Amino acid sequence: MRKSIILFLLVSSVLFSCKNKQKYSFENNIIPKPSELSFNNGELVVGDEIYIIINENCVDAGKIKRYVMDYLGKSFKVDDVPEKQQSGTNIFFTMAGEGNPESYNLRINKNGIEIVSPGYAGLFYGFQTLRQLLPAALEAGEPIDEIILPYIEIQDSPRFRYRGMHLDVCRHFFSVEDVKTYIDILAMHKFNTFHWHLTDDQGWRVEIKAFPELTKISSMRKETVIKKNWGEYDGQPYGGYYTQDQIREIVQYAEDRFITVIPEIEMPGHALAALAAYPELGCTGGPYEVGTTWGVFDDVFCAGNDKTFEFMEKVIDEVCLLFPNSPYIHIGGDECPKVRWENCPKCQSRIRKEGLADEHELQSYFIQRMEKYINSKGKKIIGWDEILEGGLAPNATVMSWRGTSGGVSAAKMGHDAILTPGEYCYFDHYQNEDHENEPLAIGGFTNCEKIYLWEPVPDSLSAEEASHIIGVQANVWTEYILDIGHIQYMVLPRIAALSEVAWSNNRDTTYVEFKKRLQHMFIRYEKAGYNFAKHEVE
Ligand code: ACM
Ligand code: ZN
Repeated sequence: MRKSIILFLLVSSVLFSCKNKQKYSFENNIIPKPSELSFNNGELVVGDEIYIIINENCVDAGKIKRYVMDYLGKSFKVDDVPEKQQSGTNIFFTMAGEGNPESYNLRINKNGIEIVSPGYAGLFYGFQTLRQLLPAALEAGEPIDEIILPYIEIQDSPRFRYRGMHLDVCRHFFSVEDVKTYIDILAMHKFNTFHWHLTDDQGWRVEIKAFPELTKISSMRKETVIKKNWGEYDGQPYGGYYTQDQIREIVQYAEDRFITVIPEIEMPGHALAALAAYPELGCTGGPYEVGTTWGVFDDVFCAGNDKTFEFMEKVIDEVCLLFPNSPYIHIGGDECPKVRWENCPKCQSRIRKEGLADEHELQSYFIQRMEKYINSKGKKIIGWDEILEGGLAPNATVMSWRGTSGGVSAAKMGHDAILTPGEYCYFDHYQNEDHENEPLAIGGFTNCEKIYLWEPVPDSLSAEEASHIIGVQANVWTEYILDIGHIQYMVLPRIAALSEVAWSNNRDTTYVEFKKRLQHMFIRYEKAGYNFAKHEVE
């Protein structure tokens, strides 16, 4: 049997269709591109019976089995069986080897299909790759009698251990079903982290039993500014929140797809919605109302009032229970104006008592105090890069959004950093330069090509410092995004470009090569019913 490692393959798959019998002549069009891929001589005929065989080491493979049976079961008769079957197609999931639990090996040969990994996540990613070898018709659950697959061998592992996508559910609210759809899109592109932006000026979206006013008052705004016409309002009350049961449901749904959900609870800024319900936690005592326009507001949590910390700690207690498997709590920390603190006797007294130099150090005091509490609950904090100002909390991970310099500084200080610079990672930006025929967006210009050609780790970092750049993330802020169809439009296909930055160890050297492969993803998006942006369609 001929075996050759083929890297940097040109991409395109040719489909010969004969009723519901589908043959794929294969070239490597998998996104994100695997580390190594080779074709061998031979073809596997996948008939209408598929058997899933999970080896005995995989004692906890139930969620993979459910996912695979769900996906294939719409088009085929699928069963799970204890051992190899003589008829039908066998798909083996085998836990073996050592090393990165997200790495995997996928083989298709005369024995069937085998996915091998040292970890469950790797088995799942192996299946995500297999999914792209199968006809796109499966995305729609269309019946298929027979598929002919080439013999193939793939070895793959991710470049970064943190591959994140963020979603703001405060500026606009998205249902449980919408969030699940978003998570499905992440899984398809081998992302492993969903950063859920749950609290902000315009709405508090997570039920906290200790503070019922957060759901009664903070989750609703009385109206919303119309487009960018400051001063013009729609007069429509708007809001929503997730019950704790719904949060658990989404966390489980994500876990079933090997995605960790990191909750973000904003502090000390972006606090207006919370202050509307608990005005005593603001420097002036209010009254406040839930934000009806966008931007940054001067009213923030009072850093001089111990009640603020009591409130935050109780919120964190419940949030930690809701997200038991997240190693992190994101505490925000961005865009916190200092004007209220400058004029607040409590804040000024705190500055004096703690020997702080100024309000920046007061912000640092706030974050460090909360970090200590969150660490005591067995979790670490992530904060936006403003947490560098006034002194970085000792164990904090920095999420660098104002360019990458915050992340670079953090890495040089031995802190972990996640890069999410606006220019490449803000998926609320326009996808073309002139904004023509685009839905209203916040501004900017971030297209697939820019994202694809972005190298996140700067040369200025030593290997040791670079090891602290744990990954990349795109952010989806929703001031101008009102429904899941629009989210899909902003995310697809930019997420595909970012998935190669995040995952692939051997990205194409030119965008043209990637763009060719992307055409195959479009067929898949189409069949899945996703509303993807068409700028890159050839
Ligand atoms: C941010 O975009 N304010 C993190
Ligand atoms: Zn104050």
